[in-house]
Amino acid sequence: VTRARLRVVVLGAGTVGREVVRELLTSWTGEFEVVGVAVRDLAKAEATGIPQALLTDAPAHLVAGEGDVVVELMGGEEPARTLIKAALGAGKAVVTANKHALARHGIELERTARGAKAQLRFEAAVLGGTPILRVLADDLAGAQVRVVRGIVNGTTNYILSEMAATGATYEDALAAAHAAGYAEADPTADVEGGDAADKLVILARMAFGAWLDRAAVPRAAPGDPPGIAGVTADALAVAREGGQVIRLLATAERGSDGRIVAAVVPTHVPADSPFGRTTGVRNRVEIEAPPLGSIAVEGPGAGGPATANAVLSDLLAIARGEGSTWGSLPPAGTAALRAPWDAT
Ligand SMILES: NC(=O)c1ccc[n+]([C@@H]2O[C@H](COP(=O)([O-])OP(=O)(O)OC[C@H]3O[C@@H](n4cnc5c(N)ncnc54)[C@H](OP(=O)(O)O)[C@@H]3O)[C@@H](O)[C@H]2O)c1
Repeated sequence: VTRARLRVVVLGAGTVGREVVRELLTSWTGEFEVVGVAVRDLAKAEATGIPQALLTDAPAHLVAGEGDVVVELMGGEEPARTLIKAALGAGKAVVTANKHALARHGIELERTARGAKAQLRFEAAVLGGTPILRVLADDLAGAQVRVVRGIVNGTTNYILSEMAATGATYEDALAAAHAAGYAEADPTADVEGGDAADKLVILARMAFGAWLDRAAVPRAAPGDPPGIAGVTADALAVAREGGQVIRLLATAERGSDGRIVAAVVPTHVPADSPFGRTTGVRNRVEIEAPPLGSIAVEGPGAGGPATANAVLSDLLAIARGEGSTWGSLPPAGTAALRAPWDAT
């Protein structure tokens, strides 16, 4: 879409959506016109300062309406996936931060976007406001990415940092994460590595040109509990004696057999290394891409205002007539995947 002032529909006005709406209504009125905001609880949204006239609890109506761009910030699988697909199918551009839906339905959503020649942008889905997908898809489009590896979940990194710094148990560190507002009411997707696996699938799409089967991404070494659920204060104390800390690393690598080697696992790293020094809710992704060598991107991985920044940048890219987050990369297929500990 290209028009002087894009008409924007926003689905969801929570932590991220509320910030996006606020920005659009204050700083970007020359570029964008907000034509509707969909939530479930209208009174709650109005209390955050969103004009009542914009609010609706019927997101499908908004998507079918007059907007040029749909910004999906509801999260979760449904109805988000169906709404994104409907918008793209109708030729509307979509901006989303929804890693959950993208990791499971990326291939379908990419096919729909390409078929309808509609832009689908999702920079905010990985590393929140910190740019990483455009780095892979645009800036490194000419390189052969060999490895993508990172700390991509702030909640678990906060818990691991807290445990290492204070000797706290996993339960106490999780409670501290809740108190600091860094953990969801239900922290399962974070602590069991599911959120990191979602982000790894999206990173791998940019790095290796294929959508991995999300359900096949291992989130633990064989026999271990998923994610950081099995990391104990004792394990961290032993690591410390060896000058190490534990980080939940998400890694995808081009295997010599053509398969993608991928996993999300707690990993010992030197305390005095870039990953070891990445503490709290910060995120960091390292990319090995010959002939360039190794580069890294580090920054805040979440938070309403930070994540809203990535959403706004995607909206501005759409206003400039740029394409989807995969840029000029060819259409992605699927790729076979194996765990690092599986035989080649
Ligand atoms: N928070 C972050 O730091 C962050 C960072 C990166 C990416 N993201 C992603 O951004 C997205 C939004 O996250 P968030 O933290 O802003 O979520 P949130 O605070 O839970 O907000 C979700 C919003 O969507 C609305 N909503 C949910 N289901 C709906 C439905 N069926 N119909 C209409 N409205 C519905 C909610 O309305 P009610 O409140 O009325 O129920 C609420 O306004 C997610 O995909 C998340 O993974 C978040």
